[in-house]
Amino acid sequence: MSQTDHLSNNTASSTLTIIQPDDWHLHLRDGDGLMAIAPFTARQCGRAIIMPNLSPPITTTLQANDYQKRILSATQQYPKFKPLMTLYLTDNTPPDEIDQAIKSGLVFAVKLYPAGATTNSEAGVTDLKKCYPTLERMQKLGLPLLVHGEVTHANTDIFDREKIFIEQRLIKLTQDFPELKIVFEHITTADAVDFVTESSSFIAATITAHHLLMNRNDMLVGGIKPHHYCLPVLKRETHREALITAVTSGNKKFFMGTDSAPHSQKNKENSCGCAGMFTAFAAIELYAEAFDQVDSLESLEQFSSLNGALFYGLKVNSDKITLQRKKWTVPTSYPFGDDNIIPLRSGQTINWTLLS
Ligand code: NCD
Ligand code: ZN
Repeated sequence: MSQTDHLSNNTASSTLTIIQPDDWHLHLRDGDGLMAIAPFTARQCGRAIIMPNLSPPITTTLQANDYQKRILSATQQYPKFKPLMTLYLTDNTPPDEIDQAIKSGLVFAVKLYPAGATTNSEAGVTDLKKCYPTLERMQKLGLPLLVHGEVTHANTDIFDREKIFIEQRLIKLTQDFPELKIVFEHITTADAVDFVTESSSFIAATITAHHLLMNRNDMLVGGIKPHHYCLPVLKRETHREALITAVTSGNKKFFMGTDSAPHSQKNKENSCGCAGMFTAFAAIELYAEAFDQVDSLESLEQFSSLNGALFYGLKVNSDKITLQRKKWTVPTSYPFGDDNIIPLRSGQTINWTLLS
């Protein structure tokens, strides 16, 4: 299963064949936007965990069922693609909803957004205690909790929100629910890497390509870059290095989750611009670039295609994909409903090309 078996080392033209990846954290939106962006992920991933932060959010299995149908219709061109649905946890999600979710066979996790933490999180959880009976049921039935791990107090520095979430929320949560499967989503700090590494096997984490490739200078130096603004916000270089060490360590707790979060150009290039980067159009290519930068391509497959399936208790994909170390230029924009969307690396190059 090692990629080195497949990596031809003739420098510039080398190719890499790996088991088809899965995206364990993806925003697909709805309506025309969904139709425009879902095929990008379906083309390269076997499955994706679909975030429920629509407006209004997906809080019931019934809504998840309808949303899944809309996603399947947007990805008809790639009939093997499986959208794995999630529910948005609120203060009032009843434990019985968890039974429904499990019974449906289409819901694979429940997402915790602390109220006010990020895009469409107004209906999120105000006090985790209110959710304890529901978390109890999830622990019992083995349904993972996916956590947006940032505190939201106005007086907490935005660069410290993840670290303080660990100290004030996550430690207690893992003590109160020692056998609840938790994915600490899109981690961005050395503190989160350490927490996950030192926790039990019930705790894992996703890491985005953009947090592996960029630090906060990429957002703020030489002019503010709204397309590099996301939540959790990019951090300093030492944190990026800790993330790189985590994904190339061979530790099974870390897996691919792009957090590709498209917003229209006008909502990004705005005096109050939305958080989120659009990376799904070249997800695996961007990760390949990050691993290649530190000569660790042999670790990519485990991170992108094995660890997530293992944590969720699913089989790995049976198909393979092949990447080539060949530069291509990213379009300056892609259509997005009535508007357009500016992809990461708009008009610039990516070093890897997905061949099939
Ligand atoms: C996400 C979005 O736009 O839905 N934004 C982001 O910056 N990542 C929400 C989220 O995952 O925080
Ligand atoms: Zn997200």
